[in-house]
Amino acid sequence: MRSVALKGIKEFEIKEIEEPVADGENVIIEVKKAGICGSDIHYWYVGEPIGLVMGHEFSGVVKDPGSRKDLKVGDRVTALPISPCLECHACKSGNPQYCIHTWDKATGLSLTNPGALAPVVAIRPDMVVKVPDNITDEEAAMTEPTAVGLHASKLADIKVGDKVLVIGGGIIGLVSAMFAKMEGASLVVVSETNKARGQKAVSLGVADEWMDALDPKFLENVMNKTDIGFDIVIECCGNTGAVSSSLTTVKTGGTVVLVGVSMTPVAIPTAIAVMHELTLKGAIAYTKDEFQTCINLMSSKKINMLKFLDSIVGLDDVQASYEKLTSGVSDAVKIIVDPNK
Ligand SMILES: NC(=O)c1ccc[n+]([C@@H]2O[C@H](COP(=O)([O-])OP(=O)(O)OC[C@H]3O[C@@H](n4cnc5c(N)ncnc54)[C@H](O)[C@@H]3O)[C@@H](O)[C@H]2O)c1
Ligand SMILES: [Zn+2]
Ligand SMILES: [Zn+2]
Repeated sequence: MRSVALKGIKEFEIKEIEEPVADGENVIIEVKKAGICGSDIHYWYVGEPIGLVMGHEFSGVVKDPGSRKDLKVGDRVTALPISPCLECHACKSGNPQYCIHTWDKATGLSLTNPGALAPVVAIRPDMVVKVPDNITDEEAAMTEPTAVGLHASKLADIKVGDKVLVIGGGIIGLVSAMFAKMEGASLVVVSETNKARGQKAVSLGVADEWMDALDPKFLENVMNKTDIGFDIVIECCGNTGAVSSSLTTVKTGGTVVLVGVSMTPVAIPTAIAVMHELTLKGAIAYTKDEFQTCINLMSSKKINMLKFLDSIVGLDDVQASYEKLTSGVSDAVKIIVDPNK
């Protein structure tokens, strides 16, 4: 079957790979929709591992239920891409997201388990989640990034009335901002280096305001807005500049949630964290409950993820879509791939 595979730095190729077959264990899923994620972009930038078939956020229908007795052919599903060991301390405490093995065989994030930038995927049975009829394939494919934002905003422990800064207005920043508002923040600001994305955060209603991170008066503007700095900062970029500004924009004694990922070490002014007694929290992925909560929130229409969707493309347009998403000027945040288009 056709797939989109990583070929080198910022380069994909259309590659024929073996279609997964029923083995009585894994759930074989016909992919309907697969999202492009900011984490995928990191792999694309470094061009490794060569041959990686991405697509860890997706929806589809069951082609073979494998060992899942509660599933039947044709059921609509999505899945957590993670592969927790189920035996370690993290797994046993209900936190498979920080099991040290959880990314070893992660769908679309490892060479062993090709992702949904192909018409069919094989998924370990306990990670497959049913999708209700009243959410679309596109929404179901966005469960995963929604759950990342929910997890981050929960770790932020936002109190009603808090002022929250979200650094980075990609999909993860936008969803984190959306949940910060739902949790009662009195002010939600998104900072961006891309004006179009900053403006979009406001026009989509997830941020009250946006701030230009490239403005030389950025820090002055933050202090004018908050007097003492933000109660909570959720960092959704991962680069040195963004992580550093999370420490300088949060109030003394405040909390920074680090969601952004960097493939290389990031130098940050730790003295500020020490002198200001900041709480720094890492946030990775989501729990199974949070994943299900996001499906429930979409199904009950408490959240509308479709407003973040920019376009739906075929496998041949994946390369151009990555170029668009990383242009620094486009307001597109979520492009979804239909492998059958
Ligand atoms: N921790 C997790 O579980 C998890 C899950 C998914 C994604 N991520 C990571 O979160 C980050 C965001 O993901 P995304 O899909 O939204 O990515 P994205 O690349 O679409 O968005 C990042 C945004 O940050 C902006 N930006 C860059 N530098 C900035 C700065 N100094 N100040 C303000 N804005 C700046 C960019 O213009 C871009 O719009 C990525 O690093 C991704 O790998 C983490
Ligand atoms: Zn993702
Ligand atoms: Zn484990």
